[in-house]
Amino acid sequence: MRRQLLRASLIAMGAAALASCGTADADTKPAAADGVTTARLLNAAAEPHNWLTHGGTYLEQRYSPLTEINDANVGQLQLAWHYDLDTNRGQEATPIIVDGVMYTTSAWSKVYALDAATGKELWTYDPQVPGERGFSACCDVVNRGVAVHGGKVFVGALDGRLIALDARTGKPLWTTVTVDPSQPYTITGAPRIVKGKVVIGNGGGEYGVRGYVSAYDAETGKLAWRFYTVPGDPSKPADGAASDPIMKTAAATWSGNWWKAGGGGTVWDAIVYDPELDQLYIGVGNGSPWNHKIRSEGKGDNLFLSSVVALDPDSGAYKWHYQGTPGETWDFTQTQPIILATLAIDGSRRKVLMQAPKNGFFYVIDRTTGKLISAKNFVPMTWATGVDLKTGRPIETPNARFQNGDEMVAPSALGAHNWHPMSFSPKTGLVYLPAQEVPFLYSDQKGYRHRPGAWNIAVDSVKNMPPDDKATFKAIRAMLKGQLVAWDPVAQKEVWRAQYDGPWNGGTLATAGNLVFQGNAKGEFQAFRADTGEKLWRFDAQTGVIAGPVSYSVGGAQYVAVSAGYGGAYPLSSSFVDNPRPMPNGRMLVFKLNGGATLPAADPIPNPPANPPAERFAAATIAHGQQVYEINCSVCHGPAGISSGVLPDLRRSGSLSDTAMWSDIVIGGQLKDRGMVSFAKWISAADAEAARAYIGDRAKKLQAEEKTANP
Ligand code: HEC
Repeated sequence: MRRQLLRASLIAMGAAALASCGTADADTKPAAADGVTTARLLNAAAEPHNWLTHGGTYLEQRYSPLTEINDANVGQLQLAWHYDLDTNRGQEATPIIVDGVMYTTSAWSKVYALDAATGKELWTYDPQVPGERGFSACCDVVNRGVAVHGGKVFVGALDGRLIALDARTGKPLWTTVTVDPSQPYTITGAPRIVKGKVVIGNGGGEYGVRGYVSAYDAETGKLAWRFYTVPGDPSKPADGAASDPIMKTAAATWSGNWWKAGGGGTVWDAIVYDPELDQLYIGVGNGSPWNHKIRSEGKGDNLFLSSVVALDPDSGAYKWHYQGTPGETWDFTQTQPIILATLAIDGSRRKVLMQAPKNGFFYVIDRTTGKLISAKNFVPMTWATGVDLKTGRPIETPNARFQNGDEMVAPSALGAHNWHPMSFSPKTGLVYLPAQEVPFLYSDQKGYRHRPGAWNIAVDSVKNMPPDDKATFKAIRAMLKGQLVAWDPVAQKEVWRAQYDGPWNGGTLATAGNLVFQGNAKGEFQAFRADTGEKLWRFDAQTGVIAGPVSYSVGGAQYVAVSAGYGGAYPLSSSFVDNPRPMPNGRMLVFKLNGGATLPAADPIPNPPANPPAERFAAATIAHGQQVYEINCSVCHGPAGISSGVLPDLRRSGSLSDTAMWSDIVIGGQLKDRGMVSFAKWISAADAEAARAYIGDRAKKLQAEEKTANP
């Protein structure tokens, strides 16, 4: 057993060594980001060779006007270079490209500056996020990328720091702590630069926090304004924040003692600046806890959960909002990517905002007024039958809120569309959207009580455990789907749809070469004809691809780049990933026509054998252990102990047969530096041992299955 733990430690140590050896090279100082001024950001569309902001330009369309790579020659697209990352945790970053330099991030908020034409490392920066912080990240220790401006590279670190780095050297220039470190906040999103300010949100809704977005002076890191998305404790004085004037209106939509668990509403992904109207749009997350009955006595819309809110970028003052899911109770965040465009609708040119949040509706919203223009579901749904265009409210189905007993709801917490970036091609007029179908059985968690800092959703996850019966397991697996949908936002209808084997596929990039690029969970990075959906090209990325690709050019040659590396919410929390095995480390993959490079052959990491303990445990202990495990552990190690391979499969852990070692880890916090904290605050030593009994029982079953499969 120790050998197995040791192997994992050696991998981790090798990774650490790799991370620290990056140094700035004197000859190839990346001076480029110096010149990224607000004027250049505003005119990013005039620099198609660069990718200056998270979504390409302020419109966040993720559309590249480059045409060297196109539907006629994409068959000749080959790897140009790759760069090995030092972790097998999820890779969600969108790189920024400035005049031949790529700035990107990896899991644990590490930053890399690479030569965009060759992959040569220019510098690396590791913010050294304490491993324990990984516990507060519901959905893996991911990071979605940096922002650049005025010679600086900005990164939001998982532990809530906003850090400005010198773009030439990667040395920190200033650091601001954007959260109360005693609360379970995390940052996974990319900062945005708006008129000399850095705007950043945070996450933590599953643990119990109050959401907000903040703007800092890009030069100094000084707070300029903060907007809270949900009301605070009514017995306390006002926050002294930009949100103060609107918080009275918001508070009238809440009931009970919501502030005790924070209320939620974190702004963990979409933050989009609209230069045409000088407005900032933020996408607001789910309730904390999810269950509306617990959070707000089942009453009220709970503003501004699950909304898009428009703010004044200079002051943070409220302008308008649109709430897609009033009184949300399913973890229906509305922080999914937002795209701005001008569309011809009913004969007039409308400035619109397009969003496909978790709840399954594709919304087209007038961004001048915040009024809903149209909404249509892009996957089958059971929670609502449509949206009333007069009120903008969903038409809910009778038991959607599981008010009269358990209800299987689609879509669900993983979203009909999650953070995976979508793109829009002004040429085809279509939005390319990574959609998915993942239903979930919603049920009140019996005897729920808020546990500070722990997983707090007030929905019973035990009921969603995968069944032991193989036929039922297969039937459920078959319900889980993923698709690339080409959506006409004007007609609100699908134009074509590519089916995948399952959910959690990559973000998309549309190009003027009539192409759409997307990676998928199975590790295929692919190109489709943008107008018809015909599959034209594929590359074996050797690991699942979830991030959004970008395109740029250096020295006249067009490149397409994507971060490869499977992880995030679905692989951590689902047991339905096919043929799970330990995941390889992530990589940055960069392609060009006749690039000529190849990936070194994959070296599959074998699954260690099942390792059931020798002891016999009482059935009652095993049953108690199941509760302990499913409530506390399954969100990372997988329901029923079935891991998808990002984190260790505990049925195979060396520590499973060693009661002392198990306790050292689970109660003693021996692996805290790698993200496995001590659970002593929330469970007793006896609970931990019961969890071992339960996983031990699961390991016995696994061992029997594997014996039958390979006698
Ligand atoms: C927030 C995510 C998270 C949660 C929740 C979590 N773990 Fe872990 N666990 C980890 C990580 C990360 C590691 C270390 C992975 C590595 O080796 O890099 C780990 C490792 C372990 C190991 C060592 C496995 C091995 O062989 O290397 C054990 C045992 C373990 N966890 C038990 C538990 C138990 C029991 C619970 C619930 C009480 C739990 N974990 C909850 C993230 C989590």
